[in-house]
Amino acid sequence: MLRNFYKNVGVDLGTANTLLYLSGQGIVINEPTMVAVNQRTNQILNIGAESKKMLDRTPEHIKLIKPLIHGVVSDFEMTEEILKYFLRKAGKGGFFSRFNAAAISVPTNLTEVERKSVEDAVVSAGAGRVFLVEAPLAAAIGARLPIEEPTSNMIIDMGGGTTEISIISVGGTVKSKSLKIAGEKFNEEIIKGIKDEFGVLIGEPTAEEIKVNIGSAIPLQEKLEITIRGRNVSTGLPKEITLRDTQVRAMLQKSLKGITEAIKTLIEESPPELVGDILKRGIYLTGGTSKLRGLDKYIASEITVATAVVEDPLTCTVRGLGIIIEDMPTYKNILLNQQQPRVVNI
Ligand SMILES: Nc1ncnc2c1ncn2[C@@H]1O[C@H](COP(=O)(O)OP(=O)(O)OP(=O)(O)O)[C@@H](O)[C@H]1O
Ligand SMILES: [Mg+2]
Repeated sequence: MLRNFYKNVGVDLGTANTLLYLSGQGIVINEPTMVAVNQRTNQILNIGAESKKMLDRTPEHIKLIKPLIHGVVSDFEMTEEILKYFLRKAGKGGFFSRFNAAAISVPTNLTEVERKSVEDAVVSAGAGRVFLVEAPLAAAIGARLPIEEPTSNMIIDMGGGTTEISIISVGGTVKSKSLKIAGEKFNEEIIKGIKDEFGVLIGEPTAEEIKVNIGSAIPLQEKLEITIRGRNVSTGLPKEITLRDTQVRAMLQKSLKGITEAIKTLIEESPPELVGDILKRGIYLTGGTSKLRGLDKYIASEITVATAVVEDPLTCTVRGLGIIIEDMPTYKNILLNQQQPRVVNI
C-alpha cells in the first residue's frame, strides 16, 4: 500500500492523444486530448475518449475543444482540466491517489513561457514534483536508442499537430526542427482533395478513416479502396463515393514533400560528423503518423538514408517517460528543470 505514496507518473501531452504511464504499472491512460463543453452553461460534458465519440455529431451549443495546437498549449484552462481528469483517473485505486513526481514531455522548441504553462498545468492538476523532458529524448529512450553514447541519432516524431525532426547525442538535443505538417494536416489535405475532385464534403473522422485504411506514401503492392459518404456540395444531399489509394496518395504528396524538404535542410545545416553518424545509424520514425503505409520507404528513398519505424510508435514517448520515472537517478541529467518537492493530494 505504501508504494502508492511513491508512484511516479509520466505524461505525454500530445495535440491528438494524451498518454499516462504509472511507475510499476505501465500505460494507464491513452485517450484523445479533447473536451466537450456546453457553451450555454460553460459546463464540461466529458473529456477524452468519451468526447471523441461526439465528434462531428454534436448539436450547435456543444463545442469540442482541442486545447493544444501544433504541440503548444493554446487553452490553458482546458489543458488543466484534461490533465486533472486523467491524473485522477490514473490514480484511482491508489490509497491516497498521490503522485510523488511527474515527468512530462515537451517539444524542444517551446519558449520558456510555453514550457512553464505545461508545467503549471501539471502542477495545478495535482502532481507533486514536475520534471520536463525534451520529447525527442523521451521517444529515443522509449525506442531504446543509445542516447548517452557519443554518436548522433536522428529521430523524427510525426504526431497529430507537429513533426519534430531531431538529432540527439550524449543525452541532449543537438539540432531540431519543428513543422506544422503532421496527421491533422494530412486529414485537411484529404478533405480538400475530396471537395475539389469529387465535389463532396466530408468531416474529419471520415478523412481519418480514409487515411488509416487506404493512405500511403508510396505505390502499394495491393490496390486499396474505400467507400465513404459525404455531402454533395452542389445539391446538399448525401453522396457515396469510392476512393482508391492512388487518389489519396496524390492528395498527400505536398505534405510529404514538405517533410522530406525539412529533413534535407536540417541535414544540410548539420556538421559533417553528425551527418556521418546519421548515415551509419539510420533515421528512426515515431509518432502515430509514422504508421502511414510506406512512409519509412518514402523517406529512405528521398533522403538516401536507411529509415525504420520504431516499435509501437504511438506509445514510444510515454514508454520512454516510463523508463525515466522508474529510474530517476539514472536520468536526472536529462530532466530540464529541478523543483523543490511538493506533494499534493488529488
Ligand atoms: N495507421 C495510421 N496511419 C496514418 N496516420 C495515423 C495512423 N494511426 C494514427 N495516425 C495519426 O497519428 C496522429 C496521432 O499521433 P500521436 O498520438 O503520436 O500525436 P500527438 O502526440 O498527440 O501529437 P503531437 O506530437 O503533434 O502533439 C493522428 O493525426 C492520427 O491520424
Ligand atoms: Mg506526440
